[in-house]
Amino acid sequence: MDRKPATLVVTIALRVLAVAGIALTPAWNASAQLRPIVREMMENLSSVDRIGEGIALNDYDYAAQAARDLKDRAKKMKKVKLDEIGLDPAQTRQFHAYLDAQARAADVILAAAKKQDGAGTYGGLQALYNDACLPCHTHFRETANLLSPATLFMTTFLNSWRAVYRGLAMNDFPLINRSSEEIGAMARVMSWDQIIEDVFDLEDPLERKDFRKKAHQVAVSAANMASAATREDKGAIIGAAGTMWIEGCIACHDQFRD
Ligand code: HEC
Ligand code: HEC
Repeated sequence: MDRKPATLVVTIALRVLAVAGIALTPAWNASAQLRPIVREMMENLSSVDRIGEGIALNDYDYAAQAARDLKDRAKKMKKVKLDEIGLDPAQTRQFHAYLDAQARAADVILAAAKKQDGAGTYGGLQALYNDACLPCHTHFRETANLLSPATLFMTTFLNSWRAVYRGLAMNDFPLINRSSEEIGAMARVMSWDQIIEDVFDLEDPLERKDFRKKAHQVAVSAANMASAATREDKGAIIGAAGTMWIEGCIACHDQFRD
């Protein structure tokens, strides 16, 4: 093996550990198991993607639907009990104010999209970030150390996997190669004892062994994806990605995610 993947491992590991250093507080550990709004947050992010795609494709119905979703989600999230996500219930009013800001920005996006106004739609998206997503994260998530290092690992996995499928669709084999190496590097770092203990909170040696086995499966599949990309063998890339999901991601989630 050449030296590039090793360097990549170190770079990513340092990045992850730096974040882990900040987030590894009892406050994070106490709330780590629940995380009930992670799903809504991933959907929020995907709505933002869809609004950008709608503008880019000149498909304003698509953007409008994403804005409606953002608004409905803000309403639904008002039912969340703050103490269940590790936050101070006395701050519920402020939490709701950010959700109202999300709904208001969604209205701006919706109105602009109905007029097929690209600049207006994008302006609404900026307001969404400035007035809702970012200030709420600063106020609640960062102060409570809720952004967990596990999330960084997992979103990096997901992003790199998306890039593999984009590469397949566009015959961009260097992109597939690079993204696979990134997945492999993350999976190897995930097998480090310190990470398994600090980030994923596993003490039992048998559990650790199982955890490491699944992370290893991701790393092996990622290496197969990378070498298939070098051969420009699309069938082998799709096959290795399937093995990665089934024996790596899904197997580990079934066992370790509650
Ligand atoms: C009312 C407050 C609030 C608003 C508004 C909000 N978020 Fe969040 N967000 C949070 C909190 C709290 C967390 C941490 C959740 C956890 O770790 O359990 C979070 C986490 C996230 C995460 C990380 C998900 C993960 O796996 O932990 C993403 C991505 C995210 N938010 C995106 C967004 C986007 C995009 C918007 C705007 C469209 C947004 N959020 C609006 C409070 C908010
Ligand atoms: C060795 C174990 C393991 C492997 C392998 C693994 N995950 Fe995870 N994943 C977890 C755990 C544990 C959680 C829950 C983290 C939490 O709630 O703090 C999780 C959560 C997630 C989440 C939700 C975001 C979050 O932070 O809660 C996504 C998305 C995700 N994984 C994607 C993937 C993808 C894609 C792969 C494969 C490329 C993968 N994971 C492989 C253990 C694993």
